Amino acid sequence: MERTLSIVKPDGVSKKLIGEVIKRFESHGLRVIGLKMIWMNKKEAEGFYAVHRGKSFYESLTNFMSSGPSVVMVLEGENAISKTRELMGATDPKKAEEGTLRRQYASNIEQNIVHGSDAPETAASEISYFFNALEIFPL
Ligand code: CMP
Repeated sequence: MERTLSIVKPDGVSKKLIGEVIKRFESHGLRVIGLKMIWMNKKEAEGFYAVHRGKSFYESLTNFMSSGPSVVMVLEGENAISKTRELMGATDPKKAEEGTLRRQYASNIEQNIVHGSDAPETAASEISYFFNALEIFPL
């Protein structure tokens, strides 16, 4: 069993894709064990994406992520990290496989509707960025 953090980004929320993203994850064996809607401020978005500080897209990415509400969720299941990433597709929707969430719905490499943790250590730190132990409900 593995856990990961996923975010329906502000573009995904405004495109009414919250249900579609959750359905895709749930129908592929993942369980939602934590869920909330948040609106990150600029500082929170900068903190979340701190590993990208200094990159050319950091300013624009953190502006975008603080431009509206997002839905953050903790997913649990076998190989939750790789499964989530497979269902999302590549960061750049142009490079994402046919049928993936980003290929189907994302506008561009930045506004790519959904985020998923990329490794167990990242997942643990990203989950604790948004959720405390009392907000996670493993069955
Ligand atoms: P995500 O999976 O949330 O991880 C980092 C995010 O940075 C990524 O999705 C995109 O939203 C954004 N990103 C990554 N690479 C680029 C890029 N080259 N240009 C703009 N945004 C990017």
